[in-house]
Amino acid sequence: MDKLIIQGGHELYGNIQVAGAKNAALPLMAAAVLAPGKTTLSNVPRLVDVGTMGRVLANLGLEVEHDRDAGTMSLDAANLTSDTAPYELVKTMRASFYALGALIGRLRKGKVSLPGGCAWGPRPVDIHMKGFEAMGVSIDLDEGYVVADAANIHGTNFVLSFPSVGATVNLLLVAATIPEETVLDNVAREPEVTALVRMLQQMGATIEGTGTSTLRIVGTRDLKPVQQAVIPDRIEAGTYLAAVGMTGGEIVLKGAEPEHLTMVIAKSVEAGLHVTVTVDGIRVKRNGELRPVDVETAVYPGFATDMQAQWIALMSMANGASFVTDTIYPDRFTHVAELMRLGAKVTMKENVAKVQGPSKLKGAPVMSTDLRASACLVLAGLAAEGETHISRIYHLDRGYEKLEDKLRALGAIIDRVGER
Ligand code: EPZ
Repeated sequence: MDKLIIQGGHELYGNIQVAGAKNAALPLMAAAVLAPGKTTLSNVPRLVDVGTMGRVLANLGLEVEHDRDAGTMSLDAANLTSDTAPYELVKTMRASFYALGALIGRLRKGKVSLPGGCAWGPRPVDIHMKGFEAMGVSIDLDEGYVVADAANIHGTNFVLSFPSVGATVNLLLVAATIPEETVLDNVAREPEVTALVRMLQQMGATIEGTGTSTLRIVGTRDLKPVQQAVIPDRIEAGTYLAAVGMTGGEIVLKGAEPEHLTMVIAKSVEAGLHVTVTVDGIRVKRNGELRPVDVETAVYPGFATDMQAQWIALMSMANGASFVTDTIYPDRFTHVAELMRLGAKVTMKENVAKVQGPSKLKGAPVMSTDLRASACLVLAGLAAEGETHISRIYHLDRGYEKLEDKLRALGAIIDRVGER
């Protein structure tokens, strides 16, 4: 297993090219199952999770070709050869569960392993199931697999009990193939969901209410393969924004979409960062003090839970105390214990972290526990005095494209080494 070795204390200067969004690429890949023929995606990020989704789809019979250098991917779904997504693949990445929506959409049946939990706790799929059943899909659980029979599928009006991103994606994948009206209410409004809506519209589905909490869909059994570019990754962009907030310096996040980061930008400006929108992205500078700013995560356009760990790292450097609350995942704080090994002063009370800054972070050996927790430890290592070793960085590779190369190009002293 690889680890990262970081010599902290170096300011960051220069440009980074923001990659395509992991959480958009995955649903767009799943949507390719719905249309016989070759779908092509561009601006596809080079991530482990993208590779995993490619394997899940190849297991169904798609021919998936990913040109990593060009960032393009073709997915030929002419002939499906299986209706099953096996546990061995689904257990490694929850988004594999999108295969169920894709299979019901294309084959009117599917057998997909229930996704497990994750590093920070259970991740239920009850909203997905209730939505499928509202569409007339019969759902059985058999030895850890969800077995769906959608012979009697029909349009419906369904209100999601929570604007779940995954449930919205899965239900959209099915509704886009039902030639009757389906109304989905209280859907997720994340940009990655809107990207899927636009792709399904291009494929031939009629969808009204794009970007709002209510989507009216009239689908078709005759969806066509399309070409689609993956939107930029707002969480990668936000992570680098927090990095320069911690180390000082000035960087340009090329290709970032400011509209997707409004809350993170607002909070960063409040904390003392200088953020300006430029013609090719977002310029971020920090040359003054860092002020403590409370944050409470929320569904889009609120402050993203995927930026919560990075914000705690940033607030550890601020002049004063701040409170960081995760309302989406109350137990998503496995990074706190590791951060404290680097000298951060954080006390937990239920889903609220009290961060007492400024702390003088000092390098130490720490361990990644999940994707965004790893990112937070990298940020802390960049700002800490001395050397930080971060182990189990396979978590990072799931969601960050060439992180150490991009940081090194900005002036960080960071290397990846193989662990015994
Ligand atoms: C997506 O996960 C993202 N993953 C996550 O990003 C992100 O943290 C999350 O949305 C929230 O924004 C992808 O897009 C691949 P949810 P998802 O369903 O779809 C509860 C990252 O770091 N819930 O919106 O699994 C759930 O327990 C990853 O890139 C139910 O109760 O998230 C949670 O509390 C981590 N029942 C809340 O909703 C359900 O059926 C949000 O979950 C579904 C969800």
